[in-house]
Amino acid sequence: MSTQQWAWSDRLSLKHELMDETHQEFVELCAALSLPEEHSPYLTRLDALIAHSIEHFEQENTWMRDFEFPPAGCHQGEHDAVLQVMQEVRRRYVEGERDLGQSLAEELPLWFEHHVDTMDNMLAQFLINNQLAGKEKDQPSAALA
Ligand SMILES: [Fe+2]
Ligand SMILES: [Fe+2]
Repeated sequence: MSTQQWAWSDRLSLKHELMDETHQEFVELCAALSLPEEHSPYLTRLDALIAHSIEHFEQENTWMRDFEFPPAGCHQGEHDAVLQVMQEVRRRYVEGERDLGQSLAEELPLWFEHHVDTMDNMLAQFLINNQLAGKEKDQPSAALA
């Protein structure tokens, strides 16, 4: 896969509007990691992705807690692990390991597509089924957009 051509596609849609919007933003910010340094500093683009990811993952973690989603621990563990990788790459990039920046840009799309296909797909179906069951009445409405 060429990360320079990586972009949102319907193949990544989980039919959950709010989750799909967040995922489109992740894809844009992640694809931007492959832009040339003349466009903007790599660290600025990585920081934007990290800031997005903290909110993105916290949103899903909150849904999992609120709805008592059974595989929450496993899903949250993947969020924590990839966030740690991003922060570690940032630390080492600052110390001069510039090659890691491009490695992250190449690996993250693979991680994300797998994560969407498995963890996020299960969560989206779970949220949609809760909505269909009418359980949203006493739950945060944002989860069921
Ligand atoms: Fe997600
Ligand atoms: Fe997730």
